[in-house]
Amino acid sequence: MDKDTVPKHIAFIMDGNGRWAKARHMPRKYGHKNGVDAMKRVIGACARMGIEIISIYAFSTENWTRPQDEIDELFNLVKRFADKELAQYASDNYRVRFMGDLSALPQDVQNSLDKITAAVKYNSGPIINIGLNYGARDEIVRAVNSLIDGGAKAVSASDLAAKLDTRDMCDPDVIVRSAGEKRLSNFMLWQAAYSEFIFIDDYWPDFTEETVERIVREYNGRERRYGGLKKA
Ligand code: FPP
Repeated sequence: MDKDTVPKHIAFIMDGNGRWAKARHMPRKYGHKNGVDAMKRVIGACARMGIEIISIYAFSTENWTRPQDEIDELFNLVKRFADKELAQYASDNYRVRFMGDLSALPQDVQNSLDKITAAVKYNSGPIINIGLNYGARDEIVRAVNSLIDGGAKAVSASDLAAKLDTRDMCDPDVIVRSAGEKRLSNFMLWQAAYSEFIFIDDYWPDFTEETVERIVREYNGRERRYGGLKKA
């Protein structure tokens, strides 16, 4: 695929891990484990196609209401992913960013994420941006409070954008959600102002390189007008 026709920033809301596992009479954690494998396939496909920023919603501010054993399993997967795959991406010159309030995560997970942040400091390749304890409302409130702490009396849209967790990234060109659900669920509310939305019926663990190609083709068929008029 031509590099000029791929989105610069693609964001994924992973959904359907539980249903994928249930359809196989397996526990939910089996779905999450296969969800991580799908993440690896999707990141690889996006990078090969020349997509510069890949955002992934891994754990929301609302996911804390899940049973504790599922939360523990998710953070085990996050830690393992950081120590192995993210460490490898870091040595392959990828940049890795995290969005969300990481201070609430288990300490061992925070330590692993800190190591990755240090390891990618001088990298210049594609950005993998992972939302962990991320909620867009929380992100916006943190940004506003940071502006207030800095003495702001009135702020502009660019002042606020400069305090968001995505401050060094462009907005997503396209936001993809799997498993047939059609909502944002508190994901990148500010950044989604002009994003295209693509909803895929497949459960997240079934995503492959071919799914990413299908998404990019669909994106290329969309005309983005940013509130202006259709091109003559
Ligand atoms: C959505 O499926 C999936 C999640 C909320 C968790 C996604 C997390 C991972 C794949 C693993 C950890 C992340 C990293 C970065 C390694 P669901 O459980 O809501 O599915 P359901 O709607 O079918 O129940």
